[in-house]
Amino acid sequence: MVTNTNKVKPDWAGNDLLSRFVNFLIGIEPIYDIMKSQARQVIVKTAEKNGIPWRKNYEELEQSGVKELFNAIADPNLKYPDYYCVPFHAYDEGNLCWKAAFEAESATYAMPLRVWKNESLTWQEANHRLRGNFYQVIDSYIPHTITDILDMGCSVGVSTLAVHRYYQKKQETKINTVGLDLSPYMLCVAKMRDTKQEIKHWIHGLGENTKFADNSFDLVTLQFVLHELPRTATKAIFQEIFRILRPGGVIAITDNNPGSPVIQNLPPVLFTLMKSTEPWSDDYYTFNMEQALMEQGFDYKTTAACDPRHRAIIGMKPINK
Ligand SMILES: C[S@@+](CC[C@H](N)C(=O)[O-])C[C@H]1O[C@@H](n2cnc3c(N)ncnc32)[C@H](O)[C@@H]1O
Repeated sequence: MVTNTNKVKPDWAGNDLLSRFVNFLIGIEPIYDIMKSQARQVIVKTAEKNGIPWRKNYEELEQSGVKELFNAIADPNLKYPDYYCVPFHAYDEGNLCWKAAFEAESATYAMPLRVWKNESLTWQEANHRLRGNFYQVIDSYIPHTITDILDMGCSVGVSTLAVHRYYQKKQETKINTVGLDLSPYMLCVAKMRDTKQEIKHWIHGLGENTKFADNSFDLVTLQFVLHELPRTATKAIFQEIFRILRPGGVIAITDNNPGSPVIQNLPPVLFTLMKSTEPWSDDYYTFNMEQALMEQGFDYKTTAACDPRHRAIIGMKPINK
């Protein structure tokens, strides 16, 4: 059982003195450069130490011909919002480059290894548990039979395939799952990884303006996306999801839990590294997500600490809307 502390957010985020001091440090370019490379090393080391072949995965993708998918996937008319065109995760071009896309799968698999540090889980077990815990929270709210799932901010498709397989296994009728992301680089890798073509479409699009018809989906997931966004974008995405969900459909969010003791008590080196590579952290950790869902008209259902670091938030589009 994971419980939150009484504090709603960590002291290292928002307008607290500690947070402002960290931001000041990150604002000094030579310090930022050191933090950036340290953050990267922490992730690569965690991955390789645990058997995720980071460099091998990278090289295989580089030689795979995946770049040839780019023109078919990228929408040349799509305008990237300013908040997106900034460095993320120690990549100067953020999510808009091949390097980020070639390392995303390894980085995604390494992330859950930090969640249960005191247990000797393989990376496969940690990933299975991380996703499974989230889907179990969704299970109580989802309609019995579903036909359409959207995984928004799907990146290289790890979350998309996981949610698709989980729900497809539960029912006999076919589920159509779509992955949407703003990075065409990530989407090329997602499409290449989807070797059995389980996913209906990989779509280059903006979460705030997806172009899907009204009432298109039974379930929309946002898995580890919102900590990368300013709150204005999150609100616009909630509005769009409300439009494209069917009445009774579910919005399911999982991401870092600002109320978790582990997140609140991160050692200074780690939270500074995290803030140096996630530019919208202050906005994320101080944003009242549940209130924003209700303001949008969702029937807010629950917030559950699904593991020591992450929470699941569930909302439903009312039946009569
Ligand atoms: C950390 S990754 C998500 C990882 C993935 N969902 C998973 O759980 O493995 C965040 C993704 O959100 C995408 N993204 C950020 N802002 C977006 C927006 N406004 N619309 C669509 N995708 C967005 C990024 O390009 C990136 O691939």
